Amino acid sequence: MQRAEYTSANRKAWNEAAPVRDDNRLTQVLTVTHQSGYHYLSAAAAEILKQVGFEGKAVAHLCCNNGRELLSIRNSGAGHCVGFDIADNFVDQARQLARSSGIDCEFVRTDVYEIPHRYDGQFDIVYISVGTLGWMPDIKEFFRVAARLLRKDGWVVVYEMHPILDMFDSVETSDPPVLHYSYFRAKPFVEDNGLDYRGQTPYKTSPSYWFHHKLSDIFDACLAAGLSIRSFQEYDHDITNVYTRYSQMQVRLPLSFSLISRNDSSQPNGAEDLTRDTG
Ligand SMILES: C[S@@+](CC[C@H](N)C(=O)[O-])C[C@H]1O[C@@H](n2cnc3c(N)ncnc32)[C@H](O)[C@@H]1O
Repeated sequence: MQRAEYTSANRKAWNEAAPVRDDNRLTQVLTVTHQSGYHYLSAAAAEILKQVGFEGKAVAHLCCNNGRELLSIRNSGAGHCVGFDIADNFVDQARQLARSSGIDCEFVRTDVYEIPHRYDGQFDIVYISVGTLGWMPDIKEFFRVAARLLRKDGWVVVYEMHPILDMFDSVETSDPPVLHYSYFRAKPFVEDNGLDYRGQTPYKTSPSYWFHHKLSDIFDACLAAGLSIRSFQEYDHDITNVYTRYSQMQVRLPLSFSLISRNDSSQPNGAEDLTRDTG
């Protein structure tokens, strides 16, 4: 399958997820966004963003879903904010939440790989949060898109689930959990179970495709996009709402990570540089 075939299959599956998650929570979220000082970001995410400072900064959120995090970022003092997501239904929800809360954010329905070039060089921060990288069939091109959206000296801030979690079967209950899949797996996981990881309502969807990216692939993609890595941290807390029980285990696993990189390289491609230096 080609990249666009994967992303359009995932678009279909995410569109099917929206009504389920809508039934479960949209009304509740709408009520909350009416309140002034709306804040959905976790304390950990807010701390990570504070490291680069987002007060008054232009922020792009890739794969923003229904925009709750971005609305919070805007409401916490960021400047112009734009969320990009492939799912029609979630972008509709995001616009509805923005209207209901009176928080000024722009939401664009697009495949992240097709973000229009008019957004290039417009942002101080590109934010990428939990449950995003795995939907990307081409991780290098994904970071190239993130980098092209940045102004010079802008930041890419990633706060994601740890890829080690792809080695486990999320529905398996043994303790300690059994390793099911190789860390070096190259082919995508194909799922037809519902994507309602928040409400946990089971349902069937069209097939969706999830891609495992090793940490080294993620670092490599950052460097190949000309970004310089400034901070990398691993955490033992779960941010997926799926692997929560893993955070209670006595033997601690890395469950999430943050990666902060910057568009401050004079070289268009850090990876090529390194090869030249060592050659
Ligand atoms: C797990 S959600 C991200 C959730 C977000 N961190 C939050 O907590 O609300 C993944 C999102 O990625 C979006 N997505 C998947 N593939 C995409 C693509 N190729 N381009 C843009 N968005 C995509 C889906 O529509 C979905 O809204």
